[in-house]
Amino acid sequence: MTTKNSTPFTANDIPSQQGRRVLITGANSGIGFEAALELARKGAEVILPARSLDKANDAVARIRQSVPNAAVTPAILDLASLASVRAFAAFYTERSPGQTLDLLINNAGVMAVPRRELTVDGYERQFATNYLGPFLLTALLYPHMKQRHGARIVTVASGVSNQGKIEFDNLQSERVYSPMFGAYSQSKLADLIFQLELQRRLTAAGSPVLSTGAHPGYAITNLQTSGPAGVLPLGMRIAMTILKPLASQDAAHGALPTLYAAASPRATTGGYYGPNGFQELKGHPVPAKIAPLAKDLALAKRLWGETERLVGARFEL
Ligand SMILES: NC(=O)c1ccc[n+]([C@@H]2O[C@H](COP(=O)([O-])OP(=O)(O)OC[C@H]3O[C@@H](n4cnc5c(N)ncnc54)[C@H](OP(=O)(O)O)[C@@H]3O)[C@@H](O)[C@H]2O)c1
Repeated sequence: MTTKNSTPFTANDIPSQQGRRVLITGANSGIGFEAALELARKGAEVILPARSLDKANDAVARIRQSVPNAAVTPAILDLASLASVRAFAAFYTERSPGQTLDLLINNAGVMAVPRRELTVDGYERQFATNYLGPFLLTALLYPHMKQRHGARIVTVASGVSNQGKIEFDNLQSERVYSPMFGAYSQSKLADLIFQLELQRRLTAAGSPVLSTGAHPGYAITNLQTSGPAGVLPLGMRIAMTILKPLASQDAAHGALPTLYAAASPRATTGGYYGPNGFQELKGHPVPAKIAPLAKDLALAKRLWGETERLVGARFEL
């Protein structure tokens, strides 16, 4: 965090992660990869699930190019499939019964899928991948974390959560589908609501686990190329073309708010972090703007209950 009295947070400020077991989703690419690399560099044991073992193995090899002794384990996880999330959680539990987890980073995401797509479970792809899958994953892995002092659950949201709305009669975009400022921003607002509601429930349960969150600003990753090309309104595409050289940052800098939320001793209970520059698009991690809707307690409670129904699991703390 930058204040008059403190220097900007960098990856060098991450404390030793020796003895900590970390799971990062979407770490074969972009921000997640950079976060995995830095945590491995600091000695964490990193579990790196990707949509295919080839992708996970490739990321592990790239991490080992920089950190030859990195303790990184590849795995398979498709967050757009509730069965895959359950299978991964079962694999995690069976791999070593009683094993612990110190840090879960819910980072994986998709943005602005051009046409409405349904997952195998019949849910809209962005809502399912960015929100429902991570909710279920967190619920299933929480038992491995609940006794761990210093454990954290980090949820990666987005600045566009400020444009989001939770439409209970359109959660799966069944009435109307708008790729970016409908489905994507709703999924990212849901992430932020989840992060904050999770912290309230952890606190109420007397849990030592922290729920923190982050958004990377505008970081150049595969997210833009695999997502919005052609689906954004012309004005928005022109704005992004202009903003890109002026107000974007690379994935390593985009990962810093996530790493701050994950590992900085200065991160606070329920803290949400993003870049400090113009419109929170680039810069060093500082507390980020929280959309007013994300602070609506009744909305958070209703969404939690509806999510439990959609994923078919209670998240007990
Ligand atoms: N970059 C930005 O400017 C920006 C801004 C705001 C928020 N974010 C958020 O930051 C997070 C990371 O994005 P990024 O920019 O690093 O993008 P990225 O490079 O495209 O990485 C996204 C990761 O998510 C994985 N993923 C996608 N669908 C998945 C699924 N069904 N199951 C499991 N993993 C899946 C991708 O795997 P594959 O390689 O298999 O596709 C990839 O590893 C996302 O949550 C995104 O919403 C990014």
